[in-house]
Amino acid sequence: MSDGCAFDLCDGSGFRYDLASNTAFDCRCRAQRVAHAKARNLSAVIPRRYRDVSFDRPPVTDIEPRIVTATRRFASAIDDQLDHGRGLWFMGPVGTGKTTLAMLVSKAASDAGRSVAIYSLPRLLNEIRDTHRAERSHVDLLDRLTAVDLLHIDDVGAQRTTDWVLEELYSIVNGRYEDQRSVVITTNILDRDELCAQITARTVSRLTEMCDELPLVGHDHRMDLRTA
Ligand SMILES: Nc1ncnc2c1ncn2[C@@H]1O[C@H](COP(=O)(O)OP(=O)(O)OP(=O)(O)O)[C@@H](O)[C@H]1O
Ligand SMILES: [Mg+2]
Ligand SMILES: [Zn+2]
Repeated sequence: MSDGCAFDLCDGSGFRYDLASNTAFDCRCRAQRVAHAKARNLSAVIPRRYRDVSFDRPPVTDIEPRIVTATRRFASAIDDQLDHGRGLWFMGPVGTGKTTLAMLVSKAASDAGRSVAIYSLPRLLNEIRDTHRAERSHVDLLDRLTAVDLLHIDDVGAQRTTDWVLEELYSIVNGRYEDQRSVVITTNILDRDELCAQITARTVSRLTEMCDELPLVGHDHRMDLRTA
């Protein structure tokens, strides 16, 4: 986030001053500043492949309209959704547009000045594992993952992992669940029992309550690109 005030109200300090009474009060941008500070060093960039996605262009215009409409409705009310801890869960076979749609949601959140962290689950688990020797930075990472306005986890269930790491994932999801903070997830595991076996039933249960499920169907559209 830049140093200036997103609302052009303060001098960039996050505080405003009432000259008459000589008192300081919080600027509207201050909550954002706090959120961004908590999100520091988390991965917040939209990957290059998805940077230019838009609701108005293919491939999004080629995806099942009912699902796109639900995604668009969510994205256009993003502040309200994040304030209520609501999330989306895109599920479907490989190459059906799950990550594309999820990135549109992350983009909307980030354009609205909200803090976002974007990870594939394997990468998130690696980062958690990498910090576990340094107690401080480990706790710090988990705190930041709990505090961001939107946690976008891509490819949930893509990789089997250890019980210890699953416990960490559970604690992040549970922390967000308790604080009513939004998550957006994608998975191509359609069988609930299989997903529970991969990431534990307790984690799946919380995600189910936090998210609206948006099922995608169809074939792998990456193959279209080859035949075109
Ligand atoms: N309905 C569609 N019509 C045309 N192209 C599509 C459609 N859905 C996705 N694509 C294209 O297919 C590719 C894969 O899309 P995306 O990464 O969103 O899929 P995914 O569902 O996340 O796949 P995976 O499960 O492998 O992660 C992209 O190049 C995307 O532009
Ligand atoms: Mg994907
Ligand atoms: Zn301000």
